[in-house]
Amino acid sequence: MDSLDRKNLPAHLAVIMDGNGRWAKQRMLRRIVGHQKGVETVRVIVEECSRLGIGYLTLFAFSAENWLRPKTEVKALMALLKQYIRGETARMMQNDIRFNVIGNRCDLPEDVNREIESAIQKTAGNRGMLLTLALSYGSRQEIVAAAKRLAKDAAAGRLDPEAIDEASFTGSLFTAGIPDPDLLIRTSGEMRISNFLLWQLAYAELYFTEVNWPDFDRNELARAFRDFQSRERRFGMTSEQLCQGEPEA
Ligand code: IPE
Ligand code: IPE
Ligand code: MG
Repeated sequence: MDSLDRKNLPAHLAVIMDGNGRWAKQRMLRRIVGHQKGVETVRVIVEECSRLGIGYLTLFAFSAENWLRPKTEVKALMALLKQYIRGETARMMQNDIRFNVIGNRCDLPEDVNREIESAIQKTAGNRGMLLTLALSYGSRQEIVAAAKRLAKDAAAGRLDPEAIDEASFTGSLFTAGIPDPDLLIRTSGEMRISNFLLWQLAYAELYFTEVNWPDFDRNELARAFRDFQSRERRFGMTSEQLCQGEPEA
């Protein structure tokens, strides 16, 4: 980590934490043991990102599609989630971390929602990293909901359709007020987005690693950041323009 350029870290890091089940299967363990080990990785990575001064960390913890998993696994994941949020609030306070959730919160069990609400309230005054968990989150659903809200406002005469632009659309998403991710990490060798932050990832750098989430650690994070620092983010411009600093007229 020390060889990294601390001034060129992603302001917003998004992570698809994948491979818990396979990690467990490889060890002849139950899938839930992989999820438990995955929670330990979450603790390590949250702490490290906060220490490095990352502004925003968004973790995909449970997708809208994950409800399709066996009931026992869903139940165990919800219990783990509740336990994590309850157990971690004190550490969030110590590290000045603000807690946030994106996704369809109304789908979550009531007791989980209570823990979420309590953690959000307790950490609301913190000024360090914004830690966002994506729970029951699906990006297409998010985009459709935003479009619906804007359409309703327009139909009610509260909004001029001509005034809808990228900024107002961005502001209608769960992630309103959060800058787009600069880097997306997905573990476990899968190279897909799985309905995560489709709009927001438009210009993110993508990093895939074979390492399963329970085995992901500070060194793997440093490796991802080093790779990120080797990228040239051109945003449609040419390399020469970037070197000159300003785009030509
Ligand atoms: C990621 O690990 C955690 C969640 C999706 C909740 P998986 O449970 O998807 O692990 P694999 O992909 O089956 O190995
Ligand atoms: C994506 O992982 C969701 C989370 C990491 C929470 P999955 O393991 O559910 O993704 P797919 O279905 O294999 O693409
Ligand atoms: Mg998976």
